[in-house]
Amino acid sequence: MRTLGVLISGRGSNLQSILDAIRDGRLDARVGVVLSNVAGAPGLERARAAGVPTEVLAHEDYPSRERYDEALVDRLRAREVDLVCLAGFMRLLSPVFVRAFPGRILNVHPSLLPAFPGLHAQRQALEHGVKVTGATVHIVDEELDHGPILLQRAVPVLEGDDEEALSARILEQEHQIYPEAIALVLDRK
Ligand code: GRF
Repeated sequence: MRTLGVLISGRGSNLQSILDAIRDGRLDARVGVVLSNVAGAPGLERARAAGVPTEVLAHEDYPSRERYDEALVDRLRAREVDLVCLAGFMRLLSPVFVRAFPGRILNVHPSLLPAFPGLHAQRQALEHGVKVTGATVHIVDEELDHGPILLQRAVPVLEGDDEEALSARILEQEHQIYPEAIALVLDRK
């Protein structure tokens, strides 16, 4: 069985969608470790509740982005992770990290990439006045929110939407396509 390493910084609802898909037999994998750069990330509790090992690596403890990323790579290798899933991990990853797992890092992003990369994708969509936005799962390359797209789901922007309402509607789709995209990648290998 293939082993996932999931990286989080916060709430961890996408992590939960992965754990639920595994529990329900929709995803044939195990989560070997959940790593967070934030000690109090609520997602860590979700991992513990599912019996998944957690580790916190605080970026403040490292002198540079590269040294931090090397430490992350070490931890993931120690857990014999086959695929790395970024799930609300709010750190830019250096080439050191991306090259350690070529083609084996996935990310979920709350827009139809290549539109609205970076922070506050839902706010960017509202500010641009688009009528349709969505969610994307892609393979991570060395550019931010960039790389081959695996799955996308369109989400309408409704009259009177604010950032919260739109984010919630997009998040529902993220929770569906992330486990599906992981299964796709695992099936291909
Ligand atoms: C999601 O909207 C994800 O697309 C973005 O960060 C958010 C993380 O949410 N990268 P959660 O921690 O998975 O609940």
